[in-house]
Amino acid sequence: MTSLTFTAKQTADIARAKSQCAIAPVFAGQLSEAAMALDKASAGALGKALALGDFKGKAGQTLMLPGTAGAARILLLGCGESAKFDQAAARETLEGLNKALSDCNAKEALLHAAELQAEGVELPWLLETLARGLVGHSYRYVATVSKPKDPMVLGKLVVNPGSALAVRAAQTALDTGAAVGRGMNLARELGNLPGNICTPTYLAKEARKLARGNARVTTQVVEEKQMRELGMGALLSVSAGSDEPAKLIVIEYKGGKANAAPQVLVGKGITFDSGGISIKPGAKMDEMKYDMCGAASVFGTMQAVVEMALPINITGIIAAAENMPSGGATKPGDVVTSMAGKTIEVLNTDAEGRLVLCDALTYANRLKPAAVIDIATLTGACVVALGSHACAVYANNEDLAEQLLTAGTNTHDRGWRMPLWDDYSKQLKSNFADLANIGGPEAGSVTAACFLSEFAKDYPWAHLDVAGAAWNSSPKGATGRPVAMLTRYLQDRSGA
Ligand code: BES
Ligand code: MN
Ligand code: ZN
Repeated sequence: MTSLTFTAKQTADIARAKSQCAIAPVFAGQLSEAAMALDKASAGALGKALALGDFKGKAGQTLMLPGTAGAARILLLGCGESAKFDQAAARETLEGLNKALSDCNAKEALLHAAELQAEGVELPWLLETLARGLVGHSYRYVATVSKPKDPMVLGKLVVNPGSALAVRAAQTALDTGAAVGRGMNLARELGNLPGNICTPTYLAKEARKLARGNARVTTQVVEEKQMRELGMGALLSVSAGSDEPAKLIVIEYKGGKANAAPQVLVGKGITFDSGGISIKPGAKMDEMKYDMCGAASVFGTMQAVVEMALPINITGIIAAAENMPSGGATKPGDVVTSMAGKTIEVLNTDAEGRLVLCDALTYANRLKPAAVIDIATLTGACVVALGSHACAVYANNEDLAEQLLTAGTNTHDRGWRMPLWDDYSKQLKSNFADLANIGGPEAGSVTAACFLSEFAKDYPWAHLDVAGAAWNSSPKGATGRPVAMLTRYLQDRSGA
């Protein structure tokens, strides 16, 4: 993968500054000061281009011009009407910019960003969003293709924030955005890898890799033998039909005070979900390689916070298993005993995510957590309810829910609150165990969350059902969500 660097630097003389591509913001019908300086330096080239009327300065519209003087190219960046430059317009603008930069042949570009701010659109927020998006544009899946797409040419973006005072804040924002972008790319890569490569064992190796060379990170892998000793009968019932052993992976990051309670992230890591004996239909079954995207988002978030060196303690727990049918597989009607001691009637072996997560949530108790957030591609019903625009947010704590929703809005990696009422929990009653693992056809995402809530009573807890958000079906590819929401949430908790 190409590495992209970001540098905040004040430009003394915009007209003469050397660059392979100077980026000039243009609001509808009005050149920015930087654009005016470049227009002057290029004998009115910008004005002439505008007079042709092709480029109207709509948010996200771009036009590449040959440059003169210092800049080899000038990229006109449409920002829409300046009075309407809100976060939505800014996002559209940046999406256009990132697309133009990733399609262009310049190795380096210089963005004059001074005017890319308004009330409610702070420059650091904008630059963080820009860097996160541009790093995302640089992602290519190459692992298993002979002739992958060409890498992005651009290797360096310089940002001129317009004042010497703003340089430090701009650099921090760019570094943060880049770290989150790289965390998202890691989550995408793990999600995109096929199930025959990305197994529970592969994820365990990946976790050890994260710990290597960083004294603040340690990784521990709980193997099936130890799971048996711990009484994790729910988790083990999922891997029972698979030749791949389950792994409970614990990644600890100690960035805060030694004894400060950690924020805990629990990821569903089903590296392939065939449904088990309750086998899935064939159409789109390949997409169940993505059933570890919750786990992938924990990896991506952990990598980002490690890179940012956030002053906070965070533990990632990944419940990794493969769900397959075989002679040894769990059967519908089987009753298993979870680590918490609750018995579960497995009425449908395809409702396996909650089975691996419930034991991971019980295990999380040992860490005396400040809060626990699990992330899971848990239900098809969630995709029906919210599509891909938001993940479902469930929580037993109002503050935690609010904090996650806020983090999601800030990063446009949004969540939507859902209920956890007792009325729904009643759907999980069983004649033969303490709980059934399915709650019938109605409100499938809610009853799955209610199931988990039974195992998360001892701490502030939230559950993110990311079944619709974690990957796209056409073209197929993991999205890296909700790494941006989670990282923002953790930044906010660490006071950074
Ligand atoms: N991994 C799936 C959920 C899923 C399905 C996510 C399709 C995205 C797209 C999960 O393990 C599952 O199979 N859930 C079942 C639960 C049902 C049996 C109660 C579902 O949603 O159909
Ligand atoms: Mn399933
Ligand atoms: Zn699943």
